[in-house]
Amino acid sequence: MDKYVIRGGRPLQGAISISGAKNAAVAIIPAVLLVEGVCRLENIPQISDVDMLLTILEGLGAKVDRLDGSTVEIDATDVHFVDAPYELMQKIRASYYFIGSMLGRFGMAKTTMPGGCNFGLRPIDQHVKGMTALGATVEIKDGFVYANTPDGMLHGSKIYLDKVSVGATMNIIIAASRGRGRTIIENAAREPHIVDLANFLNSMGADVRGAGTDTVKVYGVDRLHGGTYSIIPDQIEAGTYMTACAAAGGEVRILNVIPRHLECISAKLREMGVTVVEGEDSVLVRSNGRLRPVSVKTLPYPGFPTDMQPQVSTALCLAGGTSMVTEGVYDNRYKYMNELRKMGADVSVDGCVAVINGVEALNGAEVKACDLRAGAAMVIAGLCAQGETSIVDIHYIERGYENFVGKLQALGADITHVKDEAPAAAAAE
Ligand code: EPU
Repeated sequence: MDKYVIRGGRPLQGAISISGAKNAAVAIIPAVLLVEGVCRLENIPQISDVDMLLTILEGLGAKVDRLDGSTVEIDATDVHFVDAPYELMQKIRASYYFIGSMLGRFGMAKTTMPGGCNFGLRPIDQHVKGMTALGATVEIKDGFVYANTPDGMLHGSKIYLDKVSVGATMNIIIAASRGRGRTIIENAAREPHIVDLANFLNSMGADVRGAGTDTVKVYGVDRLHGGTYSIIPDQIEAGTYMTACAAAGGEVRILNVIPRHLECISAKLREMGVTVVEGEDSVLVRSNGRLRPVSVKTLPYPGFPTDMQPQVSTALCLAGGTSMVTEGVYDNRYKYMNELRKMGADVSVDGCVAVINGVEALNGAEVKACDLRAGAAMVIAGLCAQGETSIVDIHYIERGYENFVGKLQALGADITHVKDEAPAAAAAE
C-alpha cells in the first residue's frame, strides 16, 4: 500500500502556490454538461476527484482535452443521455451534481447514489426536494437515482432548504439554469464555491443572481454557450498549509489565495497566537509552534469550515491548555481522533464535542488517513511529531490535495511518498 513517511520536527519555511478550489471544480465540471460549445476551464486542481469527473463526462460523450495540468477544454455539444460510468460515480460525492446537470440538459437523469468521505449519514433529501420542486419525479432504487420530467424540462419554483446545504444549493442552481422561468432558493449556502459556480454559469450565458447570500435567484435560459473560466483558489488547501505552519512553526508565504475567503481561518489562528499577515493575493503565516488553546465551532460559511476541523484540532493537540471543538455540520467527523491517540494526543469525544488537552509532544506512529481532511490532519501531526510517522490510505488525501508532498517538501518538510512495490499483486487480491 502506498504511504507517506514523515520525519517530524522541522519548521516550515518558504512559499507555495495554492491550486484551484476542489469543491468549485467538482461542481463546475458536471455543470459543463449544460453548455453547448467549448468550455475552457483554467486553474483546475490536479486531483483524483477531478480526473474521475472528467472521465464521467467523457463517458457521456463530451470531448475532453487536458491541455496542460491545470487547463482543460471540454466540448459537451454532442452529449447524449446514455449510461454513465457508474462505478466511478459511486466513488465520489460530487457525482450528485450530474442529477442537476442531466436534468437541465436532458430533462432526465440516472446517477448512482454519491460516494465520498464517511462522516455518518449524508442524505441527499434536500437535493431531491429541490429537483421535485422544479417538477421532476425522483426515485431512489437499488443504489441509483432516477429523475424524470413530464415535459422534458424543469420549471422554476420557490425552494426553502430545511438545512443549509452546499451540495443542494449548487445542484439546484445547476438544474434551474436551463429550466423555464424563475427559481428562488431560500436558506441557501453561501460558500465561496457557490459564488464561483454562479460566476461560471453566468459567464456561459446563465442568469444566476444573489449567490453568496442566503437567497439565490436563477432565471432559466434556453442555452448556455462556451467560454473561458478560471476557478478560484482553494480556501481549504490554503487553510491546511496555514495550519501546518502554525503547528510545526516557521514562516510560510501562501500565494494565489483570496484572503477574504480565509478570514474565518486567519482569525482562529491569530487567537491561537499565530501571526497572519494578509497581502493582496497572498497570506504570510509565522509561528513559533507554541499555540494557545481555543474554542472552535464549525458552521456553514462564513463560519469556521468543517473541512478545516481535523487540521485545526490536530494543531490544538500541541496547544498549552484545553481546547473545545464542536462539529456543527456533520454527525461523525472525529474518527481520526483514534489515530491521533496513537501519537500521544490527549483527546476525548462526546457526540459532536471534542475536548483536547494539549500535550508537550506527539510521537511518530503508523496511522491511517480516515478521509480526505483527516488525512491532511495526520500529515500535520507527522510534521510536528518526534520521530517517524507513516500514513496509509493516502488515496483519500490525493482526492483533494494537488501535489501535497511536493509542496510540503518545497517548504522544507521531510516527507516522502513511498510507492507500493507490488501494486499489481495487491490489486489481484
Ligand atoms: N444534508 C442533509 N440533506 C441533504 C444535504 C445535506 O441532511 O440533502 C446535511 C449533511 O448530512 C450535512 C449538512 O447537511 O450534515 C451539510 O451538508 P452539505 O450538503 O453542505 O455538504 P455536501 O454538499 O455533501 C460539501 C463538500 C464537503 C463539505 C461540505 C460542507 C463537495 C463535494 N463536498 O459536501 O467537502 O464538507 O460541503 O462545506 O463539495 C471536503 O472537501 O473534505 C468535503 C467533505
